[in-house]
Amino acid sequence: MDTIRCIKTRRSIRRFTDEPITAEQIARVVSAAAYAPSWKNSQTTRYTAVVDPELKQCLARECMMGFSHNEGITKGAPALIVVRTVEGRSGYERDGSPTTSKGSHWQSFDAGIASATFCLAAHELGLGTVIMGIFDEKKVASLLGLSEGESVSALIALGHPDEEPDTPKKKNVEDLLEIR
Ligand SMILES: Cc1cc2nc3c(=O)[nH]c(=O)nc-3n(C[C@H](O)[C@H](O)[C@H](O)COP(=O)(O)O)c2cc1C
Repeated sequence: MDTIRCIKTRRSIRRFTDEPITAEQIARVVSAAAYAPSWKNSQTTRYTAVVDPELKQCLARECMMGFSHNEGITKGAPALIVVRTVEGRSGYERDGSPTTSKGSHWQSFDAGIASATFCLAAHELGLGTVIMGIFDEKKVASLLGLSEGESVSALIALGHPDEEPDTPKKKNVEDLLEIR
């Protein structure tokens, strides 16, 4: 698929078939996402793929802040990708001081680019994804035993699509672009 087509046909997928997803498939997606741009090529995004049904159920039950929509998505997805960020590098100097006035903004920015790249690569490989922002970061970190110095930037449900959602209305170029 050409890149523009891949960008335009990717949809957030919230219903998945029961077909399991293999470690090789996940590795292929991550190996593409590894090529995302990042602050000084700092590459601070990491991925924990939760495929163990019990652990995934537990994350779904405990970590979605009562948002049953995300609980249902997580329970139904064969894999939940926990997008982790190694803190204090992207956007920071070696001595730990922020390089710009935007502080921790750049590490989130990098995690966003990496996540978008992940979703596009998955789509190219015939897999579906949805990024989820409504989750309890502390609970996810504690259930997975994540190390100090890392944060959870996003969750991504991953699997074989069991729906073909319509494209939600997107803004047109006139609304988005200003040329001076
Ligand atoms: C930062 C971010 C957080 C999101 N959080 C959620 C979420 O918690 N639950 C959900 O179902 N979708 C979530 N989405 C998916 C958006 O709702 C979706 O991208 C948007 O409706 C546009 O649809 P599309 O991805 O098919 O173009 C999130 C997307 C982003 C980028």
